[in-house]
Amino acid sequence: MKKTTTSALALLAAASLLAGCSGGREGEGEESKGAESSSSEAAENEGDGDGEAAGEGFEEGSFIGIALPQKTSENWVLAESLFKDGLDEAGYEYDVQFANGGVSEQQNQIQSMVTKGAKVIVVGAIDGSQLGTQLEAAKDAGAYVIAYDRLVKNTDAVDYYIAYDNYQVGQLQGQALLDGLAERRGDQDTWNIELIAGSPDDANSQVFFDGAMDILQPKIDDGTLVVQSGQTTFQQVSTQGWKAENAQKRMDTIMSSTYTDKELDGILSPNDTLARAAMVSVAAAGKDTPVVTGQDSEVESVKSILEGEQYSTINKDTTNLVHETIGMINTLQKGEEVQVNDSESYDNGVKVVPAYLLEPQIVTAENAKESYKDDKVLGPVVAEY
Ligand code: BGC
Repeated sequence: MKKTTTSALALLAAASLLAGCSGGREGEGEESKGAESSSSEAAENEGDGDGEAAGEGFEEGSFIGIALPQKTSENWVLAESLFKDGLDEAGYEYDVQFANGGVSEQQNQIQSMVTKGAKVIVVGAIDGSQLGTQLEAAKDAGAYVIAYDRLVKNTDAVDYYIAYDNYQVGQLQGQALLDGLAERRGDQDTWNIELIAGSPDDANSQVFFDGAMDILQPKIDDGTLVVQSGQTTFQQVSTQGWKAENAQKRMDTIMSSTYTDKELDGILSPNDTLARAAMVSVAAAGKDTPVVTGQDSEVESVKSILEGEQYSTINKDTTNLVHETIGMINTLQKGEEVQVNDSESYDNGVKVVPAYLLEPQIVTAENAKESYKDDKVLGPVVAEY
C-alpha cells in the first residue's frame, strides 16, 4: 500500500538531513523567526489544505488500533471514550488501549494491533523515539500510521501527524505568564519566576518549552524575569512521567532553598496537573499564589482560574482532535486524498511528517465562560460562575 508521495517525502527528508536539520520542529532552537514563520504558514495553509496523494483505501468496517499513553492528564482519558464512540458510529472494529505500564507495554500493544490486521494505527506515544520497530512492522503489514498529539520520531514509519500546534501552545503559555505578572504584580520592575517542563520522553515537552522560552528568554536576558533557582535548561526543569508528585517535590526543594526570604511571582507550568502541584507546594511554603500557567482545561484548573487562583490554561478541545482524526481514518479508508496544512515543520529526524494542525486557544478568567460554554464537560462547570 505504498503511496506515491513516499518517494517525494524520502527525497525531502534526505535533503533536510543533508542540510543538517535535526529531529523536531523546523526552527526549534533557532530564533523565534523560524518558528513564527512556520506557524503562520500553517495558519495560511489552513483551510485550503495541501492534499496528500490518495492511497488504495481499505474495506469498510476494518480493524483500527488506537494506542494511547498513560493517563497523565484528563485529555487522554476523554480521548478514549471519544475514539470508542466515534469508531463505533463509523462502523469500525477497534482496540483503544492505554499503556499505563510504560514503553514496552505500548510496544506490545502496537505489535498485537499489527497482528490483528489493523488498517490504521493511531499512536499517542509515551516515548516518541522508541516505537520504530513496531511501526515498521505496521507499515510492512500495509497499515497507515498516524501520530496523534505527540510526534513519532526517528522513523519513516509514520504517515501523518495530527495535533494542536504545540509550539504555539508554548508561546501562548509564555505570553500568559507575562500578561499575568503585569496584571497581578504590575507594581514591580522585576519578577521572580520558576520554570517547569513536561516529561523528557514525550516529544511535545521540548516543543512546549521552546515555544514558551521564545517569549520568556528575552525577558530573562534583560533582567525583567529572574529565575532565582538558576534552573533554566530543559533537563533541569523537566518532570519525569508528567507526574504531579515529581513537580511538587522539585518545587518543595526550590521553595525551601531559595524562597524563604523572597516572593515567587510566577511559574511557567506546561499543563494543569503540574500547575496545581506547583501551587500546592507554594501554599505549603506559606507564600501567596503566584501567576501560574497551564494546559488541558482540566475541571479543577478551570474552577481555580474562575476563582482567581491559577492564571491560565489552554483549550485544546479533545473532541475536535478526535473528530479530525476519525475524519482522517475515513479518508484513508475511502482511498481519498488526506488534507494536511503543514508539510514542512515536523521533521522527525528521518522524514518530514505531513501534519494537520489545529489552533490552540489561551484561556484566563476573562474568556473562560465564553470559551467553554458549549463544552459538554466544562459548560455546566463554567455556568456555575
Ligand atoms: C499533551 C498535553 C498533556 C501531556 C501530559 C502532552 O503530550 O499534549 O496536553 O498535558 O501530554 O499528559
